[in-house]
Amino acid sequence: MYDKKQGNENSWLLLISGKMEIKTDLHLGDAKDILLDIPSDYCDLIFTSPPYADQRNKTYGGVHPDDYVDWFLPISEQLLRVLKPSGTFVLNIKEKVVNGERSTYVIELILEMKRQGWLWTEEFIWHKKNCYPGKWPNRFRDSWERLLQFNKQKKFHMYQEEVMVPMGDWAKNRLKNLSEVDKKRDESRVGSGFGKKIANWKNRDNVYPTNVLHMATECGNKNHSAAFPESLPEWFIKLFTQENDVVLDPFMGSGTTNIVAQRMRRNSVGIEIIPEYYEAVKEKMDSVQLCLFEPEAGYEKT
Ligand SMILES: C[S@@+](CC[C@H](N)C(=O)[O-])C[C@H]1O[C@@H](n2cnc3c(N)ncnc32)[C@H](O)[C@@H]1O
Repeated sequence: MYDKKQGNENSWLLLISGKMEIKTDLHLGDAKDILLDIPSDYCDLIFTSPPYADQRNKTYGGVHPDDYVDWFLPISEQLLRVLKPSGTFVLNIKEKVVNGERSTYVIELILEMKRQGWLWTEEFIWHKKNCYPGKWPNRFRDSWERLLQFNKQKKFHMYQEEVMVPMGDWAKNRLKNLSEVDKKRDESRVGSGFGKKIANWKNRDNVYPTNVLHMATECGNKNHSAAFPESLPEWFIKLFTQENDVVLDPFMGSGTTNIVAQRMRRNSVGIEIIPEYYEAVKEKMDSVQLCLFEPEAGYEKT
């Protein structure tokens, strides 16, 4: 199934005929075991939301917060192996509250993954715009989750232009009266080597986004209690991959990552341990899709 040589020969034949083959490989089983069959340096992006510690144990079995790191490390070891050196791993996770305190397993996991060889490059915040109202005695409602970005090396593929956003009102106010400093390059005061020249952004329509993503959760009829919105994998697939690349979701649930990847003409691999979830995704997805080869992506934007 993962024959790289055969895959390359097929790709050439399809390219000559003006077609592109997009593959979606779905697997039923434990990610820890299934990952062993995937070749090293195979994936361009790993995007996933694993079961949170003890969070939804009524539906698909929880892992105790104290055991979480030990449970996850053998899986992240395999993810490190199957990711290409130019690739990125994005982990959607959020620690829960245990006995009135935020649990520290995510922080411990980051430290252990660094020891395992991962670089912790960035942290994105997913602000859930439509978080439901509620009242708790000692905290407010939780309306954000982490998206931890890990890499194998400092240089990785990142297509920043793909996620630019409209400049918005900031331009009207901030760029109206530029100071002398704004017109020159303002070097970093902490010696990071990064500087900024505000005047560079005058007369531009689009700017690079921040690392806070404002996206609503989806409560559509997905038959899965923890599905993330399609806009979430879509944003990261645009940022870190190109057409024909390979995206992996080792905890695929209702298959959101794979569905979006296929629509965006990326090959993908999905792994799910619960047969009903696996069957439901398999039913709605073709394992191979032939698309006409065009230079511009024609995928629908959510
Ligand atoms: C948070 S959900 C993922 C939801 C998914 N992002 C979506 O949009 O539907 C995590 C999924 O991982 C599955 N899972 C739990 N342990 C697993 C394991 N060891 N290997 C593979 N899948 C597992 C669960 O059954 C669940 O469907």
